Amino acid sequence: MAVAAKIKDAIERSSWIRKMFEEGARLKSLHGPDKIYDFSLGNPDLEPPEKFRQVLRSILAASATGAHSYMPNAGYEETRAAVAAYVSREQGVKIKSEHVVMTCGAAGALNCIFKTLFDPGDEVIVSAPYFVEYGFYADNHGGQIRVVSTRDDFTLNLEAIEKAINPRTKVVLINSPNNPTGQIYDRTSLKQLGDLLTASSRKMGKTIYLVSDEPYRKIVYDGFEVPSIFEVYPHSIVATSYSKDVSLPGERLGFLVVHPEADEVKSLMGGFVLANRILGFVNAPALMQRVVTHLQGVCVDVGVYQERRDLFCRGLTDAGYDLVKPRGGFYLFPKSPLADDVSFVSLLQEENILVVPGRGFGSPGYFRIAYCVGKKTIESALPGFARARKRALGKA
Ligand SMILES: Cc1ncc(COP(=O)(O)O)c(C=O)c1O
Repeated sequence: MAVAAKIKDAIERSSWIRKMFEEGARLKSLHGPDKIYDFSLGNPDLEPPEKFRQVLRSILAASATGAHSYMPNAGYEETRAAVAAYVSREQGVKIKSEHVVMTCGAAGALNCIFKTLFDPGDEVIVSAPYFVEYGFYADNHGGQIRVVSTRDDFTLNLEAIEKAINPRTKVVLINSPNNPTGQIYDRTSLKQLGDLLTASSRKMGKTIYLVSDEPYRKIVYDGFEVPSIFEVYPHSIVATSYSKDVSLPGERLGFLVVHPEADEVKSLMGGFVLANRILGFVNAPALMQRVVTHLQGVCVDVGVYQERRDLFCRGLTDAGYDLVKPRGGFYLFPKSPLADDVSFVSLLQEENILVVPGRGFGSPGYFRIAYCVGKKTIESALPGFARARKRALGKA
């Protein structure tokens, strides 16, 4: 067998999101794309803000010498400095460029972090529902995830996290605003998490790092705020990207930032930079680094996503669905009317609606809707959601 057993298994078990994406492609070729309501993939449909194109054009026109050469593995100094200045304001803690590494998306950042931190068998605690790639990223570097559940409203369950901490725990990973729930962890719970990690690190005789995956930080509604993790715990690392807030997922640009007072910050940075090089990325894309240097704080029109969220929440609630209204991101995670979420997702498919079963995020009994699609698609799909629920209840 050419393909390693582990990869073969991973391909088979892997990502419900991809499976739905592929099913969508099949149905679209069968019935025509306008007949399929595809809410399966978190691929932002909004174009990047106009400023992106302006900056890109001016950089291309300037054609600097050496613009396409190798660079320091951590990224361009100018870009890292711009990121450091911006994140200093966002996190409320003074960051220098030496604490920033430009990466290939948030995914690249998380892989650099795990590669640096994990000895074989080390664990990262994640709260379900969670972005399913975390398990693969941990496994890439000899680590593994330990999954705990969130509360009913998808907020952090600190007792569950406390119980899960053990001598193998190296990292606690959070994602807020969350994919798939849209929940934002408030300041009080983050402060309590920081206190818990301080106490647990002391108890375990080693530092447990807090990693915050924040690609949806700027996509928030109703004035909600995403609190700083650097203010609640010094041994923290932020991983993020320009994929969602500037709508550039295909350009593969993100960064990681480590708290300047984190334990062993210098060796951590050494590890991150080495990981960025030896994982095969070598460095983050040069042109995009030069572009985002001038795009700090730029974001797509979040009002568009908010309007869709409101439309969806209203429509689904009227149809009898049970859901927690998202505070950010562009996903909804309603309860499945059938205990078996995969069966319910099949009922939705019969209505030409594609969503992802909750078990793809470690939470069976729910399903995920990605609403980075036009309003018309949502409006046209709502009657199908209502019919599928009625049929499900007839079956239950
Ligand atoms: C929670 C979460 N983390 C990380 C990523 C990866 O982001 P990127 O495309 O910037 O690597 C995603 C992408 O969907 C995500 O939803």
